[in-house]
Amino acid sequence: SQTVTDATAVKRPTLPDAQKVTEVTHWSDRLFSFRMTRPASMRFRSGEFVMIGLMGEADAKTGKSKPLLRAYSIASPSWDDELEFYSIKVQDGPLTSRLQHIQVGDDIILRPKPVGTLVHDALLPGKRLWLFATGTGFAPFASLLRDPQTYEDYEEIIITHTCRELAELTYGAKLIESLQTDELMSELIGPENLAKLRYYPTTTREQSPKMGRITDLMRDGSLFRDLGVPQPTQDSDRAMVCGNLAFNLEIKEILESYGLEEGANSDPKHYVVEKAFLD
Ligand code: A2P
Repeated sequence: SQTVTDATAVKRPTLPDAQKVTEVTHWSDRLFSFRMTRPASMRFRSGEFVMIGLMGEADAKTGKSKPLLRAYSIASPSWDDELEFYSIKVQDGPLTSRLQHIQVGDDIILRPKPVGTLVHDALLPGKRLWLFATGTGFAPFASLLRDPQTYEDYEEIIITHTCRELAELTYGAKLIESLQTDELMSELIGPENLAKLRYYPTTTREQSPKMGRITDLMRDGSLFRDLGVPQPTQDSDRAMVCGNLAFNLEIKEILESYGLEEGANSDPKHYVVEKAFLD
């Protein structure tokens, strides 16, 4: 037998719950996505989030470092062998200023305890599912849109995505396109089910085919006119919301004005909300 000792490996602090980066894609100077290995024992429900991060800088006095973790929605579906995440890059953000430089093969810390409210279990059965996202709030919906259950549970799924600029829509637009063209996805979901999916992207600061905040387009009714669907009701419509804080609050108010009530895992109702976590 042979014993190999690597002095550097012995000294290097071992990362708790480390996973390996398998793919990194930069979508714009503000956005990137990455994939990593998934612990074989980790189960989660599409739409949930986990804590991920890197080791922090060493403390000046003690020389010790602690993990620097943030909540990230899992963007991959629960059947996927790997985990995917979609992130903003904040130049002075404690985590994302470093995370944006990760490379294939790097270690990422993952606390494998998924939680969250953007799950099918938190909604009562309904006919139409609305998914309202801004910016990186698209991430949990990238998971749910790749989960066959989403299509089994609803007759129609409408996803709206509002971003400042066109480039920020690319990750979502490509994901929707891949559902329609990817062999595995179209087989898994079924072409007849994919016909139920409608995509409504809008921009607010760059010219595009549809401009405006989704909240304004709901208040003036143009969202419903454009799609040819009635205003949501408690009887038929369910909604999931994920975006910045101000957006979440406004959408809640609008949904409540339609008579929808907020649900939770322990008390399923008509809509659920989660913040897109910023660094
Ligand atoms: P706007 O450009 O008018 O601020 P951010 O990148 O700041 O998180 O914003 C993502 C998108 O969400 C932007 O298009 C932004 O529009 C929109 N947005 C921000 N706040 C709200 C809000 N309170 N209601 C609706 N949309 C919002």
